[in-house]
Amino acid sequence: MIENILPYLDKDDIIIDGGNSYFTDTIRREADLKKKGIRFLGMGVSGGEKGALEGPSLMPGGNREVYDELAPFLLKVAAQDPAPCVDFMGNGGAGHFVKMVHNGIEYADMQLIAEIYDIAKNAFAYSNKEIHELFTYFQSTDLNSYLIDITCNILATTEEDTEGLLINKIKDEAKGKGTGMWTIQESTRLASPVPAISAALDGRYISSNLELRQLFNTLFPENPVAGNTISRSESHALLESTLLTGKILAYAQGFYLLKQADMEYNFNFNFASIAKIWRNGCIIRSTMLDEMSRALENSSLISLVEDEFFLTRLKKNIPALRKVLCLGIESGIPVTALGTSLWYLEALRAKRLPANLIQAQRDFFGAHTYQRIDREGDFHTEWEKL
Ligand code: 6PG
Repeated sequence: MIENILPYLDKDDIIIDGGNSYFTDTIRREADLKKKGIRFLGMGVSGGEKGALEGPSLMPGGNREVYDELAPFLLKVAAQDPAPCVDFMGNGGAGHFVKMVHNGIEYADMQLIAEIYDIAKNAFAYSNKEIHELFTYFQSTDLNSYLIDITCNILATTEEDTEGLLINKIKDEAKGKGTGMWTIQESTRLASPVPAISAALDGRYISSNLELRQLFNTLFPENPVAGNTISRSESHALLESTLLTGKILAYAQGFYLLKQADMEYNFNFNFASIAKIWRNGCIIRSTMLDEMSRALENSSLISLVEDEFFLTRLKKNIPALRKVLCLGIESGIPVTALGTSLWYLEALRAKRLPANLIQAQRDFFGAHTYQRIDREGDFHTEWEKL
């Protein structure tokens, strides 16, 4: 596209790449165009078709001077409420990196919602109407968000020419265009796991692998029957607490990844500002992002979970997540994103992990050495002689 545009450009013209580009491509493109006297702005844009018309969330990064020149225009086209959803994200490929993580979080958020839908439908045997009521209820809680809103809409949509809800006629094979995969690649490179996003990506891959699904479906056709003793009245609050816990932990993972990337790539992120421009216009916009932007003003915060607002909600709601996970597991429901959110917390809060055994095994077969809790230094043991 750039090659096609170049003949029509004058020196110092600006190209904005508003697509979902990989951040290292953005850095390369900016450098290549600089040699040709053309200026470049890599800018993440979120909001889908409606956002494009009514005001998206904009995540520009790279050259600050170029941003400043375009700012009067960008501030006008961005979503406006409660403030223009645009800010300079930082150096190099910062804009597209932030958009990539936005999309990773979007994957996790959607998967968490889908797992709650699965539990309501298949563990609680909710009717279509009850599922719709559940998600409508969510909108009146801390879970209020664009994704819950469109889910309510989807769960009530029928067609003129067919019976029943449209959702029940849609193939259960989720696709993707790559930003979720990039987020996982980056999280692996930076050794900063985002298990809820990873579970969401794996969930999409598994749903689309018809060969394996057919095989496993034939080999293991029996569905376990769980003794669900949870009443209808109790279940709304339980599912709300479960989704809230999963969501807080997924966002905590995403923001921590941004933090690690900031140190590695010197983006110079302002985390509160990232949360602020996600408050409107974008796909993951939600009332909870108000609290996140407030919490992230505290630059000494290691993880979002430390902030009082999120900490009290986690402490209060973790038992609900455990309970729903048990029910999901007993009912044979793949509650992977909800599960990994809890495992993330369990692993990080454990006083002692079984990684001591892994270190011993590594040292046993490969003399990789280990460290001790009672002495300084690196140690190796001739295990087989002992
Ligand atoms: C947005 C969306 C947008 C697009 C994604 C969908 O923020 O407006 O994230 O970028 O809808 O590319 O991603 P998948 O096709 O990978 O689900």
